[in-house]
Amino acid sequence: MEAKAQLAGGKTRIAKQHEAGKLTARERVEALLDEGSFVELDKFVTHRCADFGMQEQKILGDGVVTGHGTVDGRPVCVFAQDFTVFGGSLSGAYAQKICKVMDLATKIGCPIVGLNDSGGARIQEGVESLAGYADIFLRNVLTSGVVPQLSAIMGPCAGGAVYSPAITDFILMVERTSYMFITGPEVIRTVTHEEVTKEQLGGASTHASKSGVSHFTEADELSCIARIRELLAFMPSNNSEDPPHRPTQDPADRADAALDTIVPVESNRPYDIKKIINAVVDDNKFVEVHKDYAKNIVCGFARFDGRPAGIVANQPVHLAGCLDIDASIKAARFVRFCDCFNIPIVTFVDVPGFLPGTTQEYGGIIKHGAKLLYAFAEATVPKITVITRKAYGGAYDVMSSKHIRADVNVSYPAAEIAVMGPEGAVNIIFRSELDKITDETERAAARARFTAEYKERFANPYKAASLGYIDEIIRPRDTRWTIIRSLRTLANKRQTNLPRKHGNIPL
Ligand code: HXC
Repeated sequence: MEAKAQLAGGKTRIAKQHEAGKLTARERVEALLDEGSFVELDKFVTHRCADFGMQEQKILGDGVVTGHGTVDGRPVCVFAQDFTVFGGSLSGAYAQKICKVMDLATKIGCPIVGLNDSGGARIQEGVESLAGYADIFLRNVLTSGVVPQLSAIMGPCAGGAVYSPAITDFILMVERTSYMFITGPEVIRTVTHEEVTKEQLGGASTHASKSGVSHFTEADELSCIARIRELLAFMPSNNSEDPPHRPTQDPADRADAALDTIVPVESNRPYDIKKIINAVVDDNKFVEVHKDYAKNIVCGFARFDGRPAGIVANQPVHLAGCLDIDASIKAARFVRFCDCFNIPIVTFVDVPGFLPGTTQEYGGIIKHGAKLLYAFAEATVPKITVITRKAYGGAYDVMSSKHIRADVNVSYPAAEIAVMGPEGAVNIIFRSELDKITDETERAAARARFTAEYKERFANPYKAASLGYIDEIIRPRDTRWTIIRSLRTLANKRQTNLPRKHGNIPL
């Protein structure tokens, strides 16, 4: 029985799986978990379908490998869909296996990792399969924010089946072999007459850069599995624990003189915010989430003093670091993940405002920008904000400002915290004076004078500091130590929101 279960769909189908550049479900589980730690559950479960000759085709395990083991010594529950058995399609019994291991993860408070490779609902089982999906979706929802949920897509994931991964915290996709879509190319051709390939429609790069459905794209399955292990190391096992500490040799008070010159003096010159992030985090190691999506905001994990933190940062090299619809949604979800799992948030601000234009307004930038505001405001984890240069307008408030309960807000000396940039401000508040001057040269000189005056008065961090909105003005070289010192102070932060059923985040 053991040997039979191990062979699943049989040697031919296993060979076919390997030829396609894919590992089998069991090989994936072995690669994910610490060596020898896997305890398989329900190895002998079979389906209950008696239609279409299915009673003659019972395969032990029924197309999904489930169980638990450890990653870096910490418990993790896992299910891996087995494409060699009925194309990994989901039966009632198969869904029950997944639900059982999900329930175990919730009960013992450990992450659940789903390795997806499936042809969707098992067609022969009809509504029993659909019911099975819904049972899984319900658990995805009820478990959200209780234990981390990770989904790797390692083959097909189509139709309603996509909604289980979609509810989980992070989706990883493997290049060339994975795809996700609600309706495939055939249906699309019939309904909308669009011609599109499977890869264009729902391949890894599409979801990484266009739709933002996936958070990580990996070149092959082993890199994907390594990424899952890396991510788990930033997360606590559940929402009542703190994320794990990883000792580092990197000195907490390491000053970096190079930081003093990364931000250009000219306020409109772009620079790569990731240079600052990499320079200040432990061992210069930053794991970026959603790397190819909404590049105007950078999100990801790093450690300070050995303790995980989530980083959110405006990126001046893309759209000048403006907030737009995609960036707001991307960062809001990330902030909420961190807050669910007690991961402090460090925010780097260099934002000229929200992106103007009809596309943004018609697309609902008002409600989407509100998501980010909401997420930062409701978060009760330690929040540290570093303003590196511009913090203009509503975006200043949104980007983890003091006013929405950030704990420590610091700024570089040349930062500009104002309602808008000097040029725009001068055009409005000095318009009548400027209109009175008829001579072009004189008007330009007056404009330059007013701009300088405005900069002197408002385009600096000292007004905000004098009001206590900025706690401290720091030298860029001291950024790392400032963050670490603040995180140490905030280590025992306790803050709760008022009891309520749940808030009503603008969706
Ligand atoms: C039963 C299935 C199956 C399914 C594949 N198989 N999908 N059996 N139910 N949904 C079986 C095949 O019959 C085949 O069996 C084996 O799995 C491998 O499939 P192949 O077609 O040979 O593999 P490949 O060429 O790689 O194509 C993979 C595929 C294709 C693209 C996934 O199989 C396919 O299109 N399947 C149907 C997908 C689908 O329409 N699913 C329902 C979607 S709706 P043998 O014995 O020949 O090896 C849905 C709703 C979810 O999922 C609702 C949630 C609310």
